[in-house]
Amino acid sequence: MQVEELLKPFPIKEFHPFPRALLGPGAWEIIGPEALKLGFQRSLVMTSGLRGSGTVDKLVGSLKYHGLETVVYDKVESNPKDYNVMDAVAMYQRDKCDSFISIGGGSSHDACKGARVSVAHDGRSVNEFEGFNKSENPKNPPHIAVSTTAGTGSETSWAYVITDTTTDPSNPHKYVAFDDACVATLAVDDPTLYYDCPIAYTAQCGFDVLAHASEPYVSRLNFEPSLGSALRAIQLTVQNLRQATWNPVDLPGREGMMYAQYIAAQAFNSGGLGIVHSISHAVSAFYDTHHGLNNAIALPRVWAFNMPVCYERFADIARAMGIDTSGMTSVKAAEAALASAIRLLRDVGIPERFVDVKQASYPKNRLGQGPTKFYEQADVIKGDAEDVDRITRHVLGDACTPGNPKECTFDTVRPVVDHCLNGSLDDLL
Ligand SMILES: [Fe+2]
Repeated sequence: MQVEELLKPFPIKEFHPFPRALLGPGAWEIIGPEALKLGFQRSLVMTSGLRGSGTVDKLVGSLKYHGLETVVYDKVESNPKDYNVMDAVAMYQRDKCDSFISIGGGSSHDACKGARVSVAHDGRSVNEFEGFNKSENPKNPPHIAVSTTAGTGSETSWAYVITDTTTDPSNPHKYVAFDDACVATLAVDDPTLYYDCPIAYTAQCGFDVLAHASEPYVSRLNFEPSLGSALRAIQLTVQNLRQATWNPVDLPGREGMMYAQYIAAQAFNSGGLGIVHSISHAVSAFYDTHHGLNNAIALPRVWAFNMPVCYERFADIARAMGIDTSGMTSVKAAEAALASAIRLLRDVGIPERFVDVKQASYPKNRLGQGPTKFYEQADVIKGDAEDVDRITRHVLGDACTPGNPKECTFDTVRPVVDHCLNGSLDDLL
C-alpha cells in the first residue's frame, strides 16, 4: 500500500511486521546457537567495523566457536551508500553465503536489508527498490540484526535508508525504502553492547529515539496501536538518556534506552514519521552528518512548527516527559514539552544548529572528507539561502513528509529549515 493511500480518510490501516527478538544483557552470547537453529552455515557479517570496541571480533569469535563460517564486510559507512550495499552483495555471491548477520547501528542494518533485497533479485541495484514494498521476491536470505546503539530501531523495523550516489553531484539523494520483505529474521538488543558507544553518539542516537517516538504520536496516520508505545518510549528516553550518555557503563540507563529505542521503532513502523526525519535525511544527503544529530537539531523546530495543529497530543507528550501539567492549558503544556526537549538536548551536549556542527567535534561526520563526489567540498555546513532552498526541496520529496501533521509546502517548510541551520533555540522558549 502506498503512503498516499494510507493517508486517505479510510478506515483500513496497515500494521507492518516485526521480527522475533532477544532483549537483555547477555543476549549476544546466544546469537551462535540461534543462528544454527535458523539453519545458518556461512554468514556474511555486515558492519562498519566498530573499530576500537572489540565488539565485532567478540561476536564473530562466538559465531565461529559455535561452528558457523563467517565472511566479514566491515566497510559500511555512516549514512550507508549504495556502493556499500552492492559491494556486500558481490561478496555474498562470491563466497556463496546463505545468511546475513548485521552488527552495529542503523547504517549496518540498513545496508544489510538493502543487500538482502538485492540478493533476492539476482543482484539488481538496491536503488531500484526505493519506495514502498518494491520487492517482487519476498524470499530474502535470513538475517540476524545485532544492535550496538540505542537509536535506530532498524533491527525491528521495515525501513532502510540508503544514499544514492549515482545522481548528479549537485543533487545527492538519500531515500527511504519501506519493505515488509526486508524485516530481519531475528533482532538482538543487548545493552552491554552499548557500553562502547561514545558519548556524543549515545546522545545523538537518543534523539533519534525521541523522534521515532514523537513523530508517530502526532502523525496524520494517527495509528492507534502506536500511540501507547510512543508515549512509553518518550518516557523511557527522558528518564534514561542523560544517564546513558554520561555514565556509559550504567546498565539501568543503557537498558532503559534499549527498550526506548525498540519500542519507539515499533511505534513508527506502522505509525509513520514526519519532517524531523525528512530534514534529517536531507541534511545527511548534502553533508553526510549523523542521523541522530540531525534529528536532534531538527526536533525542537519541528515540534514548534507542528504544535498549532495538535496541542493536545503535545500535552500528552509533556506528561510522558514527567511534567506536571495540572492547571495548564494544552498550549502551555505543549510549550513545556518543547522546553523539556531543549533542556534534554542541552544536557546531553548536542550542538544547537547545523552551522555549529564541526568536523573536529563530531568525527563520525565526514564533513569535507569524501568518500564520494558529494562530500569532498562539503567541509562546513553553509546555511546560506541556496543551501536552505536545496534542503527544503529534498524535504518535500521525502517519503516521511506526507505523515507530518501539518501541511508542508516550500513556503511553510523553508523557515523551519532555515531555523535548523541558523536559528537559536532560545527563540523557541
Ligand atoms: Fe530515525
